[in-house]
Amino acid sequence: MKWFLCLIAAGLYLCLQTCVHAEPRLSRSVIEKAVIEAKATVDSAYEYSRRVSIDRVRRNVVSPADILRTLKQPVGPTRSAVRAADYMDNAIKLIKRSLEKRQKRSINATDLISEEDLQVIADLTGCSSRHRVPSCKTTPNLDYFRTAASVCNNRKNTRWGSANTPFTRWLPAEYQDKISLPKGWDPNRKIGKHLLPLVREVSNQILRTANSDVESDPLYTHLVTIFGQWTDHDLTFTPHSPVIRSFSNGIDCERSCERTEPCFPIEIPEQDPRLDRDLEGCIPFFRSAAACGSGNTGHFFGASNVRQQMNSLTAFIDVGQVYGAEDIKARFLRNLTSDMGLLRVNTEYTDNGRELLPFTDMYSNMCATRARITNDFNVEEVPCFVAGDERSNENIALTSLHTLFMREHNRLAGALAELNPHWDGERLYQEARKIMGGYFQVITFRDYLLHIVGPDVIANQLSTYPGYDENVDPSISNVFATAAYRFAHLMVQPFIFRLNEHYREHQEFPSPLLHEAFFAPWRIIFEGGLDPIIRGLVGRRAKLNTQDHMMPDEIRERLFEFSSALALDLASLNMQRGRDHGLPGYNKWRKFCGLSQPRNRKQLSKVLKNDKLARSLLKLYGKPYNIDVWLGGVAEPFVRGGRVGPLFACLIATQFQKIRQGDRLWWENKGVFTEAQRESLRETSLARIICDNTGITEVPEQPFQYQHRGTGYTKCRDIPAFDLSPWRENSP
Ligand code: HEM
Ligand SMILES: *[C@@H]1O[C@H](CO)[C@@H](O)[C@H](O)[C@H]1NC(C)=O
Ligand SMILES: *[C@@H]1O[C@H](CO)[C@@H](O)[C@H](O)[C@H]1NC(C)=O
Repeated sequence: MKWFLCLIAAGLYLCLQTCVHAEPRLSRSVIEKAVIEAKATVDSAYEYSRRVSIDRVRRNVVSPADILRTLKQPVGPTRSAVRAADYMDNAIKLIKRSLEKRQKRSINATDLISEEDLQVIADLTGCSSRHRVPSCKTTPNLDYFRTAASVCNNRKNTRWGSANTPFTRWLPAEYQDKISLPKGWDPNRKIGKHLLPLVREVSNQILRTANSDVESDPLYTHLVTIFGQWTDHDLTFTPHSPVIRSFSNGIDCERSCERTEPCFPIEIPEQDPRLDRDLEGCIPFFRSAAACGSGNTGHFFGASNVRQQMNSLTAFIDVGQVYGAEDIKARFLRNLTSDMGLLRVNTEYTDNGRELLPFTDMYSNMCATRARITNDFNVEEVPCFVAGDERSNENIALTSLHTLFMREHNRLAGALAELNPHWDGERLYQEARKIMGGYFQVITFRDYLLHIVGPDVIANQLSTYPGYDENVDPSISNVFATAAYRFAHLMVQPFIFRLNEHYREHQEFPSPLLHEAFFAPWRIIFEGGLDPIIRGLVGRRAKLNTQDHMMPDEIRERLFEFSSALALDLASLNMQRGRDHGLPGYNKWRKFCGLSQPRNRKQLSKVLKNDKLARSLLKLYGKPYNIDVWLGGVAEPFVRGGRVGPLFACLIATQFQKIRQGDRLWWENKGVFTEAQRESLRETSLARIICDNTGITEVPEQPFQYQHRGTGYTKCRDIPAFDLSPWRENSP
């Protein structure tokens, strides 16, 4: 008997040892049950969001927040990735909660969910396939052509730079709870003795600019601005989760000021005139989706468990905004009824005989803005256009660039077919796509970046091509997408200019205010097509970002406003997004770039060359360390010849350096193009591409550089054509 009791005691003791201190495996059924329950929760939240969206679209009550949400919707493979992440996140929360109940105390799940169990959960939720390494053996022509999602660009790390991988971080994330919650989630929590200001308060005090106060850039055209947006849409897209109400308490993100995942509403400060219009007192904001397995307690796949955000696009300059960043989308955009390597075009409308983008086949009337804007309810509405990137309808200038470059692809495919009648549609498509990739790598490095980061940074970081380095990870960094490359939000004019053949304001179709040019494909179809808009881009100046005229009301007060609904504020969104992503503050990034770290007003005044601004910033933030990095970056005075300050010049140059050096298929890398082909590509001219694909007959030869028209711009016939002869191949 004694012996028996002893055994029980020993067993209990052992059990306590293992149960409390080690990490016992959870039973398979516990895990399975949690995963099934999590899937049900997530699926029903997805279904609810889908129903609400469709219903709002039907009833025509789409709000500006709906539009942003639709813009940031994950689709295709991105959607499955986001859904898997939501499954996993919820399953772990369920397991944790049930364990806590059993233990009757708060625990951190790391103590109780082992690596092996996390792996099982990942397998069951579909998160593991995200981490599985694709094989590059079966893909043909990997030495010459890119895959749609750019897997296998790097042969050792096959996912580097590919679509639907997490943004990389150059500095560790800073979350309120060190893992997942944004700074400012708890508004009463101090960071180094200071409360973070409300982003809307910062926006009101620092960024507010009346449309009429906008200054124009003496040197650069509005094309510089929109080309920036265009390149961004080749490189970064951060999806939301589709969910619109909290998983834990069912609160609708748009109807509440409560911070509850995924809602992180932007609180409107007192004395803001918006408060009178908005009963809730908040601008809705949804957190970016977490990458699979991140932001949970527990270490995962050997990586740190801190919450990461995903990039749906490839990191390479590969013109994904024309072709799509995944296979299904890429195929969808092609014209496969003829074997000519063409992209699909609109079969209902043309622009004076020239091609327009095809319409989307997804049911949505997001682009049916014509009646509301013209106040004429008898007008014909059209659907949104579809292109390689989901944001092609965002504004009509951007849409025009999408259209222009789709036309150039088709022009190239046709010309290549004449040179090489033996090439099939697949070859024509891939070769034209590859030339387009070359174009944009040349134009971005030779022309565009020079005007942004200035000649000194170019000389230091981006001049001579150093050759491919397979050890360079080209992935886009979180700070680039979330802060640095949003610099040009302060270069956006409050108008989309439309000009006639003489580069004067168009009589019939005058320049619309920006907020009347959002999601307005009808303006391209029914209001004179591409030519007036392209002329407006190359013949009018960019907005100049100055320290006292930062962001005009068009995008600070009227973002995605079509009706009386409360519009969004792009400045607030940018800063809230930075906090959502856990970006460190201004000084940490200055340090990362080897720049001074101002500690007080005097030093900050010196960095900003502006005492008044330094004073206002410190009144809001307490100390420079806390300044939201996007704001700190855009507040700096420009580097010589550039349009960003030293911090963003460094961050932007560093990113493009990696994009170039880590790209096996970079146009200058050995064996990608022939020497003769490279010679042609070196002569690429944006002016020529405009001439070849529009009805425009004269353009500034350097379309990024503002030039008064005077007696006329360069005639198209005087701009040399792109020399395709090096692509002639003797038929086998
Ligand atoms: C023309 C007017 C523009 C509008 C209306 C606009 C609007 C927006 C909006 C609503 C977002 C999402 C904000 C959020 O919730 O985080 C965004 C993101 C962004 N914008 Fe713009 N933008 C414009 C121009 C530009 C330009 C000129 C650039 C750059 C050079 C740019 C670069 C970016 C970048 C890098 C992002 C982050 C994209 C992502 O990773 O998802 N935008 N913009
Ligand atoms: C778990 O919690 C304890 C006490 O709260 C903490 O010291 C420990 O670092 C936590 N473990 C991990 C891996 O976060
Ligand atoms: C596909 O190409 C053929 C041949 O050029 C053309 O007639 C047809 O309209 C195109 N279809 C689409 C949807 O672009």
